[in-house]
Amino acid sequence: MENPFLDFTHSLLRYGVLLIVAAAGLIHLRGLLLQRPILNYERSLSIWAVVLCHVQLIVGLLLYIMYWGRISDMAGEEGRFWKVEHIGTMVVAVALVTIGRATAKRATTEIAKQKRIAIYYLIALALMLWAIPWPFTDIGHGRAWL
Ligand code: HEM
Repeated sequence: MENPFLDFTHSLLRYGVLLIVAAAGLIHLRGLLLQRPILNYERSLSIWAVVLCHVQLIVGLLLYIMYWGRISDMAGEEGRFWKVEHIGTMVVAVALVTIGRATAKRATTEIAKQKRIAIYYLIALALMLWAIPWPFTDIGHGRAWL
């Protein structure tokens, strides 16, 4: 059963997720390097990053359930990518963003907060960039940018 609406939502939301996780990670890294306090809009960015990641996770899980018939028949590299790599890496990335924000909230100094968001979010960003089936990769060949 194909679901073009959820497909499109998941595909489009990648850019929102990547942008907000990158922005929050880099802004906190800058704050850490300049040793200055976190501004309200910066804190909001890191919270919205968690929200968008969770929405993407839910849409991804729905797609996975709906397309399981097709995915379970896949073999070789394609099978490994969709059964293990995409899902496994993305779940770890979303967990890192969630844990990063939770541990930052508990940290007692502004510098420790900045450091945790910067580290967790930027690692999550790298994992997401790696596990997306971009059109220029073998696995994403034939897929669109949106
Ligand atoms: C949170 C980070 C995630 C990002 C940035 C992301 C990104 C993407 C992208 C760009 C595609 C290709 C869409 C297209 O070409 O139309 C895709 C496909 C897919 N994703 Fe994710 N994804 C994420 C998480 C997940 C998770 C956690 C799951 C499952 C639990 C999942 C399941 C799927 C499935 C089943 C497809 C294939 C849909 C199809 O065959 O058209 N995704 N994802």
